[in-house]
Amino acid sequence: MKYHLTSFGCQMNDHDSERMRGVLEGLGYEASADRDGADLIMFNTCTIRGSADDRFMGNLGDARRIKRERPDAVVAVGGCWAQSQKDAIFTDYPFVDIAFGPGEVARLGELIARERIEAVGAFSLDGAFSGQLPAKRERSFQAWVQISVGCNCVCSYCIVPRVRGRERSRPLAEIVGEVEALAADGVVEVTLLGQNVNSYGRDLPAAERATFAEVLRAVGAVDGIRRVRYTSPHPKDMRGDVIAAMAETPEVCAHVHLPAQSGSTRVLKAMRRTYSRERYLELVQRIRDGIPDVSLTTDLIVGFPGETDADFADTLSLVDEVRYDGAYTFLYSPRPGTEAGESMDDDVPAEVKRERIQELIADVQDHARERARRFVGSTRDVLVEGPSRTDPQRLRGRLEQNIAVNFTGDATPGATVPVEITDATSTTLAGRMAAHVTA
Ligand code: 5AD
Ligand code: SF4
Repeated sequence: MKYHLTSFGCQMNDHDSERMRGVLEGLGYEASADRDGADLIMFNTCTIRGSADDRFMGNLGDARRIKRERPDAVVAVGGCWAQSQKDAIFTDYPFVDIAFGPGEVARLGELIARERIEAVGAFSLDGAFSGQLPAKRERSFQAWVQISVGCNCVCSYCIVPRVRGRERSRPLAEIVGEVEALAADGVVEVTLLGQNVNSYGRDLPAAERATFAEVLRAVGAVDGIRRVRYTSPHPKDMRGDVIAAMAETPEVCAHVHLPAQSGSTRVLKAMRRTYSRERYLELVQRIRDGIPDVSLTTDLIVGFPGETDADFADTLSLVDEVRYDGAYTFLYSPRPGTEAGESMDDDVPAEVKRERIQELIADVQDHARERARRFVGSTRDVLVEGPSRTDPQRLRGRLEQNIAVNFTGDATPGATVPVEITDATSTTLAGRMAAHVTA
C-alpha cells in the first residue's frame, strides 16, 4: 500500500506531517512519488488566509479526479482547514473518506483502520500530543518538538484559536524526555513549537508548573543538543526571564521571531494584540540589550480593516526603527468566524493593499540586506544542512541567527563548521569554510 501526503501551512503542520508519515510507515504504507500512484491520498491543510484555502482547493480537485478514476483510493484530509469545515466537509466534498482536525494526528492509525467500515470524521480538539508518535524526520539531525498546542489569544484576525482550541502545555519532563531520545538518535538542533511558546506552562497542574524560560534551559542542557530554536513568542508574554535564559544558555540561538503585525497602536488595539507600538519597541530594546548579536524577524499584516495611510506609515517606521533581519508580510484576509472577519469591513481596497505591501517588502529587504552585511568579513559557526539549492557544488547551512549561508567546503550535513562570510544579500550569505569540522 502506498500513500501520498501534501502538507500546507506552518511549522506546526510540517511537524504533524512528519508524525503522519511516521504513523503511516508504521502501518506498512510506503511513500508514493505522486498522487496517481497512491492508495491513500492525504492532505495536511492550513486555513490561515484565504490564499491557503485557494491553494488547497486546487489540490483537492486533483483528489476528486483520482477518486472518480479509482474509487478504491482513500482520500484523507487533516489539519486546520478540515477542522474549520467540520460541519460540512462530508456533504460538500463527498469524495473525502476521512477528515480529522489538527488535534487528531494521534488517532490517525485508528481512523485509517476504521475507514472501510464507515466514513469517519474526528474533530475533537483535545487529542494527544503528537510527540508520542513515531516521526519520519526530513533531516536526521534536526527535529521539531511540540511544547504546547492551541492558543488562548483573541487576535481579532486569527482563526488559529478556533481550529486549534485552547492552549495545552506538555509537561516539562515529557519535553525533556523527547529531546533526550532525539539527541540519542543523532539530533543536534531542535525547534520548540507552540502557537504562543512563552505563555507555556500556565495551564499545567501546580506540581508540574514550569515556565518557558525553564524549558529553554532544560532543553539546552540535554547532552548532544547544540542548537535550540523556538517559534513563536507573543510580545505580550515575552518576559525578562526568557531573555536571560537565552543569554545564559549558549545552545539557545540568538534569534527571536517576534510578530509585531502592525506598527500602529490604534490598529494593534483593533487587532487585540494587547501591546502598543511603544511597548513593542521597549521589548525589542530589552532583547537587544540582553542578547548580543541577536537577529530579529517578524510578521506584519497590511490592510487590516480601517488601516489608514497614517497607520501604514507607522508600520513602515516601526520597520525602520527596529531594522529587522527579515519579515514575513501578509495581506489581510478576512477569516470566517473571527472577530474581524465577522464584524469589521474589509475596507482597504485591494489595490491599496498591494501598493502598501510592495512598499513594505522593499523597506524590509533594504534593512535585511544592510543587517546581513554585519556578518561579512567575520567567521561564524554554521550548521551544515546539505547541498546548496542553486549550486550543488556548494553547501548550505545556517548561522545561529537563522540566516542561510551558501559556502564552499567539504563537510557532512549535521556538522558545525566555521565559515568565513564573504558576501551578503537580503536573504542569504555567501562564504567559504575556514577550517576543519569543530564538532
Ligand atoms: N490575514 C492575514 N494574515 C494573517 N495572519 C494570521 N491571520 C491572518 C489573516 N487573517 C498572519 C499573522 C501571523 C502569521 C502566521 O499569519 O501575521 O503571525
Ligand atoms: Fe498553522 Fe494556522 Fe495554518 Fe493551522 S491555520 S496550519 S495553525 S498557520
